[in-house]
Amino acid sequence: MRRQVASSGYRPRPFVKWAGGKRQMLPVVSGGMPESFGRYFEPFLGGGALFFHVAPAGSKGGKNGRDGAPTFHISDLNRELVLAYQMIRDRPEDLLRALHDHEAGYRADPESYYYSVRDGHDPGSAGDIDTASRLIFLNKTCFNGLYRVNSRGKFNVPLGRYANPTIADEQNVLAVSGILNLNNVHVSCEDFGAVARKARRGDFVYFDPPYMPVSRTASFTRYTCGDFGIEDQRRLADLCVTLDEMGCHVLLSNSDSGVISEMFARDAWTVERVSANRCISSDPGRRLGHTELLIRNY
Ligand SMILES: C[S@@+](CC[C@H](N)C(=O)[O-])C[C@H]1O[C@@H](n2cnc3c(N)ncnc32)[C@H](O)[C@@H]1O
Repeated sequence: MRRQVASSGYRPRPFVKWAGGKRQMLPVVSGGMPESFGRYFEPFLGGGALFFHVAPAGSKGGKNGRDGAPTFHISDLNRELVLAYQMIRDRPEDLLRALHDHEAGYRADPESYYYSVRDGHDPGSAGDIDTASRLIFLNKTCFNGLYRVNSRGKFNVPLGRYANPTIADEQNVLAVSGILNLNNVHVSCEDFGAVARKARRGDFVYFDPPYMPVSRTASFTRYTCGDFGIEDQRRLADLCVTLDEMGCHVLLSNSDSGVISEMFARDAWTVERVSANRCISSDPGRRLGHTELLIRNY
């Protein structure tokens, strides 16, 4: 049963800062979307920058929803992240209570509270609200807002330096809840490959995968305990071809890598090099002047 949430005119934004988040790139990426399409699919959702940009206004979107509004299928393989979306959708007040508790604990003693939450978590026994609020708390207080787990799936980022982080952002959590409670928004935890079974001719699919590393030191691909390697990049390129043959509109972001350009060196695809600001780099000097690829079949 979907909740009824009043709309306030406030525009929701991503509730987590996510590595590879597309906030800085929104003008380029949203400007690269097709003018019209059926349903919207975003299978590497992360913080959902493009989804939040497009969904509320429905400024660009198809007409396949039951009420004539666009239909959005958003998903990610990170179970805790998707759980956070689901808890915001289904239990925003419980989640906000838990976030206020985190805020109080953090204010009392940031360092010991942070590490007790980070290291004292047992995914096997924690409840859904505990797991979802922990993810948001750690994201707001960890170094650089970077979600990273080790090979055993344990979140291993140190404490960040924030004077007064907003941990329980009531206005945004309630606004996000409002969007996610719309009948035409569907959130799920699944591998990107699932889109092949769902998409139809005329739908739009935006892929923003973990990027192909362009150098040995620039390889951040660990958002889940499995790495996203070259085989996954190939599987994704094959899926793009399948979706193209089905008549879907496909837009893909990736790093400016020769390997990726080669995968799309076919007639159907336009490979555009666009300038990008790297936001999650500990070295400010490395955050500017980068390029990445925007690839599309329309
Ligand atoms: C570059 S981030 C997406 C960032 C997002 N566009 C944003 O604005 O925040 C890539 C996402 O892909 C997810 N992911 C990794 N492997 C996946 C897979 N096999 N299927 C679906 N999602 C996956 C990660 O959990 C991560 O959230």
